[in-house]
Formats: sequence, C-alpha cells, structure tokens
Amino acid sequence: MNSRYTPSTEFSLIVPTYCESQNIAILVERVHQSLSSYSYELVVVDDNSPDGTSEIANSLSQQYPVRVITRRNERGLASAVVEGFKQARGEILGVIDADLQHPPEVIPELLETVMSGADVVIASRYVEGGGSEGWSASRKIISKGSKLLAQVLLSSARGIKDPLSGFFLLRREVIDGVELSPTGYKILLEVLVKGKAREIAEVPYIFRVRERGTSNLTSGEGIRYLKHLTRLTGLQEGAIRFLKFGLVGLSGVLVNEGLLWLLTENLGLYYLLSAAIAVETAIITNFILNDIWTFRDRRTPGNRSLLGRGLKFNLVSLGGLGINIAILWTVTEVVGISYLISNLIGIAGATLWNYTINTLWTWRAKPSSEPISGS
Ligand code: GDD
Ligand code: MN
Repeated sequence: MNSRYTPSTEFSLIVPTYCESQNIAILVERVHQSLSSYSYELVVVDDNSPDGTSEIANSLSQQYPVRVITRRNERGLASAVVEGFKQARGEILGVIDADLQHPPEVIPELLETVMSGADVVIASRYVEGGGSEGWSASRKIISKGSKLLAQVLLSSARGIKDPLSGFFLLRREVIDGVELSPTGYKILLEVLVKGKAREIAEVPYIFRVRERGTSNLTSGEGIRYLKHLTRLTGLQEGAIRFLKFGLVGLSGVLVNEGLLWLLTENLGLYYLLSAAIAVETAIITNFILNDIWTFRDRRTPGNRSLLGRGLKFNLVSLGGLGINIAILWTVTEVVGISYLISNLIGIAGATLWNYTINTLWTWRAKPSSEPISGS
C-alpha cells in the first residue's frame, strides 16, 4: 500500500500568506534546502497582500518550484489553505506558515512519516520534544484551553496531542471528495473530523517566535474558533432537537391537564384515577410527536421497532416522573421553599433526564454516524 510512495512522489506544500514580504524568500530557500532530495512544489496562496508578497513570490518561482495563487476577492487563512489544496498537484499535501514559526527543517521527517504509512502527520507542540518558544503564561493557558475544548467536544480530536496545529501533512485521499469548510478557522480540525484518515501520527517541533512581520490572527479568531467547534460538533443541531423536545413536553402538559379535568368533571372519575389515565395518555401523545418530529431522523436502523421505541419512551418517562417527584419532595422538605418552585426544578430535572436517556437509548444515533478518531 505504501510502496507506491517514493522520493519522486509529488508533494505539494501550501503556504498561506498575508503580508509576509520579509519572510517569504527565507522560507522558500529553507524549504528548498530541506527538500533537496524530494520532488515537490510550493504553492503560495496570497490574498493580494499590500506589501507585495505575491510579487516577491512570483519572482522566486523562476529559481524554485514555486507557484503563486493570488486571490483578489477573498481573505482568510482557512479558505486560502482550502484553495491551495484544490490547486495542488501532489499526492501528498502539506501546510506550513510563511513566517518561519514552523521550522521547515521538520518537513523531511513529516514526509517520511506519510511515506511509511501515516494518512495524516501533525507537527506537534505537545508531544515529547515539542514546545513553544517564548510564550507567556496566559497564551499557554489559552492554547491549552482551546485544545482541551476541542478534545472534549470532538471525538476525532481526542487522541491527538496537537489538534490545533497549523503545520501538517496528509495523503490526498484523506480529503478526496470531502467538502472542507473554508470558514473553519482550524483547518486541521476540518481534516480530522471530516476526512478519511485512519492512521494519524505526530512529530515534535518547536513553535518559534515570529521575528519579522506581524501576526494577522486577532482576538476575533477566538469567537470564530468557538463557532467552528459548534458547527463541527453538531451542537446547533442538538439545540434544535432539545427545543423540539421541550415543545412536545409542553403539549404533553396541556393533554395531561385537559384530560384530568375532563375525566374528573365530566365522567365523574376519582381524580387520582383520572390523573393516572391523563399521565399515560400524555406519555403516548408525547411519544408520537417526538417520533414523527423531534427524532424523525433517528427511527432507523438500531431503533426500527415502533413498539420497542414506545416501550422505552414509556419507561424513561416513568423514570422522569420519579425524578420529578423526588426533587419536588427533597427541595420542598429539605431546602424549605414553596412546592410550586420546587416543582419547576423537578420538571427541569425530569426533562434533562428524559431528553438525555431518550437521545442515548430510545432514539440512539446509529453507531457509525459519529466520526471516530482513527477510522
Ligand atoms: N492567504 C492568507 N490570508 N494567509 C493568511 C491570512 C489570510 O487572511 N491570515 C494569515 N495568513 C497566513 C500568514 O501569513 C501566515 O503564513 C499564516 O497564515 C499564519 O498566520 P499568523 O498570523 O502568523 O498566525 P499565528 O502565528 O497567530 O497562528 C499560527 O499558529 C497557530 C498555533 O498557535 C497558525 O499556524 C495557526 O494555524 C496555528 O494554530
Ligand atoms: Mn505566526
């Protein structure tokens, strides 16, 4: 499988640039030194930098295997990288910053790692031997926090030490036919979540201080990063589902109250008997609405039987009722606040329980729908 990779396998290294006129020539020379025994092209994607980066890169292309793509109507690191991937000719693709914070001397080791079997190789600050030069304590905390958040939220980032690295290589197949979102700020996360990588390796490197030019990434990137994470996690989809579940729950309260009144007042049933019938009816109407609306997309394949789903929902709801009453009693008796307030807390607790267990059990997602790290 890997034997088709030889030193003559074409490698495309993407370099996104914005105002890197002082760095681009040094980068190109250092990349060339490092890759002297390989066949490669360097694809500079410049967003028409006012400092003339494109022009300098173009003049370098007479002496080095450099191609320059100058975008005039677009700005952004991630979309520049996606554009570079599209235009690249190589079977192996890579990304490196232009400002020399990513030392080009690491590239041969990255390349060898892909050639000997890895689908994705990440130059990593967080494996043994890696690190960041001259970072303040606060920058370290922000970096580690962002990393932890990605690892908690995305299973594909979980086993990875540096999922936010901007310096990595991959086999072209990993992203063949995959729509990478150009608005995503951390393009490696896109690759890890949406791509088809099985084997992911990390090679240590030291993130150097920038010596020339200024960083383009501002505090707005923090917000963009959070949005990106939300989208990748499908958290938005989760919020909508929860809202639907809540609305169905409210409709159940109306059914419950209405029936309790109707059965007691009109049919003259004992009110506790009416209540039991009313509760069960509300559970059934809730089930039907959730089944055809809230969890419509989750009725197959693990949850095929309608009766099975209905019984599970019933059981979960009875558990919820128990939780509601337990909280109602505890908060009223122990904390000593009004039972009407305690009941609201009880309803909230029961709703959380119902939603969680129904999501994980009654209408559980099919096992393969979530991308798993390393598969
Ligand atoms: N084409 C294009 N368009 N390139 C851009 C743009 C843009 O709008 N903004 C930044 N770049 C280029 C820069 O010229 C540089 O080559 C690279 O993208 C990284 O930009 P920096 O401004 O140097 O970013 P940084 O040093 O703060 O962040 C880097 O380190 C992070 C790790 O802490 C990036 O590599 C991040 O991806 C990485 O996560
Ligand atoms: Mn930088």
